[in-house]
Amino acid sequence: MTDVRWGILGAGWIVQQATGAALRSAHGSSLRAVAARDILRAESVGAARAVTDYRSVIESDDIDAIYIALSNEAHLPWILAAIEAGKHVLCEKPLTLSPQDTAKAFDAAEQAGVLLVEAVWSRWHPRTERIVELCRSGDLGEIETYLGTFTFPAVPPGNYRLDAKRGGGALLDVGIYPLHVLAACLPDAAFRLLSVERHDVYGVDLTTRATLEWAHGRASIACSFEMPESQRLVIGGSHQTVSVDDDQAFTSWRTHSSLTIGAHRETFEPVDAYQQMFEAVSGRIRGDDAWVMPRHESERVAGMVEVIQQRSA
Ligand SMILES: NC(=O)c1ccc[n+]([C@@H]2O[C@H](COP(=O)([O-])OP(=O)(O)OC[C@H]3O[C@@H](n4cnc5c(N)ncnc54)[C@H](OP(=O)(O)O)[C@@H]3O)[C@@H](O)[C@H]2O)c1
Repeated sequence: MTDVRWGILGAGWIVQQATGAALRSAHGSSLRAVAARDILRAESVGAARAVTDYRSVIESDDIDAIYIALSNEAHLPWILAAIEAGKHVLCEKPLTLSPQDTAKAFDAAEQAGVLLVEAVWSRWHPRTERIVELCRSGDLGEIETYLGTFTFPAVPPGNYRLDAKRGGGALLDVGIYPLHVLAACLPDAAFRLLSVERHDVYGVDLTTRATLEWAHGRASIACSFEMPESQRLVIGGSHQTVSVDDDQAFTSWRTHSSLTIGAHRETFEPVDAYQQMFEAVSGRIRGDDAWVMPRHESERVAGMVEVIQQRSA
């Protein structure tokens, strides 16, 4: 079958840094158009055409799927607009700012018969897939402990991440990575929030620490815009523990990676998990059975985020 024809909304950091090139390289995918408010930024992504009008991309007859890379508050309106125009949608994380809006977006996609996927790219990384498989298979035994951190020291002034009205804050930006892996590793667990510690400036959380428990264990999550760079992931089972060997648990990109399971080490070839994500979504649009982030995982994590936000409000 022919390539899935993609359009991108937004040409900010993530598109410039990684996803524009990943989409250009993705098999079964063709990058037709990019829209950004600044035409020079749109042109720099290297699509067949560049425009400044988001709507003209979603309404183009030569586009099958839209990748939304806009700031968080703009996700829902452009998801709904793209769906209304009959397009499949891959939207950056967090898909929306609430579980209610996430359900609304998936309902709209289902009614329109199009695919909607949240772009939590690290879930397509083979190392993450392996961790999830180890947890779900019972190879680690009963999962009893989970430590996931995603912290970095600063966000530039003026960035949407520091604006509550625009979906800012560390939890929505990076906290959702360890939450997604936790939810994937324990698909049937009923999580209960034990505690939250939060440090706010400008009305957004610069740091959130949360402890959750389920029937057999406890998870500790830390995310921050004001702590040293760190992405740890350690999962303790009743038989053995798995941990990533680098400090890049959620952003390993085009580099060798590894994990340690008990006394044993497994290594992974460099991959571009963004490219794998685009290939999987294009595959699904063409009717393949490639794995894509399912609705229930996005909704479950959106629910966990809401519980953490409400406790700390
Ligand atoms: N998967 C990942 O690894 C990863 C990493 C970073 C970010 N992200 C996600 O990608 C999205 C964009 O993040 P980013 O770091 O690329 O953001 P950024 O560099 O700050 O760019 C902001 C984006 O928001 C758009 N935007 C729309 N209205 C805006 C307004 N009034 N003011 C400022 N920007 C506006 C911009 O569109 P124009 O281009 O049209 O100006 C641009 O695409 C977020 O949802 C974030 O969570 C994902």
